[in-house]
Order: sequence, then C-alpha cells, then structure tokens
Amino acid sequence: MFSNWRAAPLAAAALLSTTFAVNALNAQGAAPPAKEFEPSVGQEGKDVIWVPTPQSLVERMLQMAGTKPNDIVYDLGSGDGRTVITAAKKFGATATGVEYNPDMVALSKRNAEKEGIAGKAQFIQGDIFQTDFSKATVLTLYLLPSLNVKLRPTILNMKPGTRVVSHAFTMDDWQADQVDSSEGRTAYMWIVPAKVGGTWKLDVPGSGAKSYEATFLQQYQNVGGSAKADNKPIQFSNGKLRGENITFTLVEDGNVRRDFTGRVNGDRIEGTVKGAGGESKWTAVRTAESK
Ligand SMILES: C[S@@+](CC[C@H](N)C(=O)[O-])C[C@H]1O[C@@H](n2cnc3c(N)ncnc32)[C@H](O)[C@@H]1O
Repeated sequence: MFSNWRAAPLAAAALLSTTFAVNALNAQGAAPPAKEFEPSVGQEGKDVIWVPTPQSLVERMLQMAGTKPNDIVYDLGSGDGRTVITAAKKFGATATGVEYNPDMVALSKRNAEKEGIAGKAQFIQGDIFQTDFSKATVLTLYLLPSLNVKLRPTILNMKPGTRVVSHAFTMDDWQADQVDSSEGRTAYMWIVPAKVGGTWKLDVPGSGAKSYEATFLQQYQNVGGSAKADNKPIQFSNGKLRGENITFTLVEDGNVRRDFTGRVNGDRIEGTVKGAGGESKWTAVRTAESK
C-alpha cells in the first residue's frame, strides 16, 4: 500500500508527461500554422474588384495632391494598403484606408507594420458609403466612374481645398483641375471648391471707393454671373474657384478693368483687386443665397 502510494505520483507524472507529449503532437498535426492570405488581382470586392495602382502612380497621385505631413489622407477602397502606407512613409501624412474585405485589411496592417509606420497608417474594415471620411484633406480613389459620381455629393460637401485624386476614372461633368499620368495610366485631381452661389455686395474702400453687386452662378469650380455698379450692369468674366480662392474680372464703361482675387470664408470674401490705378483691398458679404 505504502509503496503503491509512493509510486502513484510518479505514475501520474509519467502519464501526464506522455499525455502532454501526445497532445503537443496532436496540436502540431491538427492545426498547422495558418497560411497567410495572398490577394489575387481581379478578386471580387463589394462594389469593385481589386486591382492595385502601380507604385509610381501612387506616388504621382500623392504629389498631385501636394500631400504634406499635416495632411489627413483617406484611400477609399484601400486594397493592400499601398497608398496609405506611401502617404505615411514617403509624405509623412496621417493616413487611413477604408476597405471592405477583412483579409485585405489584415494584410494592409501587416504591410504597415513591416514598413514601421503602423502608428501613422490605419485601416478601417468598412463600406466606403457608410464610413465618415469628412476629416480627410486628401482623398484617393481607384474605383469606377459610377462610384465616383455616387461619392460626388459627399465630396462636394467636404472642406473647401480638400484635394481628391482618382486613378483612371473621372467625376462625369465635374472637370478635373489637373490631369497627369505615369506608366500609361491617368490620374485626375480635383480641389473641392467653396460654395459661392448667390448675391454679394462688394466694397473697394479707399480714395476711389467703389461698391458693386455681383451675382455668382456656380457650377463646381466655374463661376459665371453678372454684376452691377451704381445699379447699372457691368461685365463679369473669368470667374474661377480653386478651393477657397476665387478670381474674377469686372469691366466698367467698356474698358475700365479690375481683376479680383479673394479668399472665401463662408458668407465673406476678403482679397485684393488690381486695376489701372494700382492694387487695393476689397471685401464682400453675401446678401442672398442662390435659389
Ligand atoms: C481597384 S481596387 C483599388 C485598391 C487601392 N486603392 C489601389 O489603388 O491600389 C478597389 C478596392 O476597393 C475595395 N472595395 C470595393 N467596394 C468597396 C466598398 N463598398 N467599400 C470599401 N471597399 C470596397 C475592393 O475590395 C478593392 O480592394
């Protein structure tokens, strides 16, 4: 009995170590290390398949946007994460990818870690049509023309000056501000324009003080319209927006030309006007929104 009692712990230990060894072997046999996901060009995506943008064009697109370290870059449909990783690593920006495919998100996170920029590059698994990207200052896309047009109203409501770059696909009748190419691929860049539609009262103070009334009719970055001085129609032309910066020309009495440049801030504009008499400041206040 005594010897049995003494022998029991040894037997139990032997049994345990055998069981441990067998379990370890079983574990090795039953669950070999998971093979890492490998994407294949053309694989299904929610609204569009995955085809990567060549690295040289990724860099060109970020250059076109003038990407700087203080930019917040979002790539909508971020695939393997290359645009986000490049924006963070080469341009020093804070970058986020939105990608529906969870395997691609996991792959992107691994890629960002390998490049040592996981802190500046993050990835959200989600649908681009359900994700808030309003804080982006640079938006990159490689989607489809129909998806660009579906995103367009949201993009046009983003902060004026936000730059949007699309590989291959346009925004229908919203003309690009810049077009460029690399490796035979085209990229289009738009700058979200301020909203200036409506009637404005313009004042040019100083010795030859002048007041005008201008009505701006805006289509994207193009500004048409009409103007009056002393209640008489004068010529309005060359209206253009680049983000929050507006330019236009007024011509009075057939040949007195003034070229206006200004910065739009909601319902106010401040800027500089150049004419034959030199340069002066001007301000404007919106008196009525466009209908
Ligand atoms: C043509 S690839 C572009 C990938 C990457 N932006 C690039 O330029 O290399 C489009 C990507 O969008 C993803 N995608 C498709 N529909 C999506 C949706 N509704 N929301 C988020 N991602 C989507 C696809 O899975 C695919 O990775």
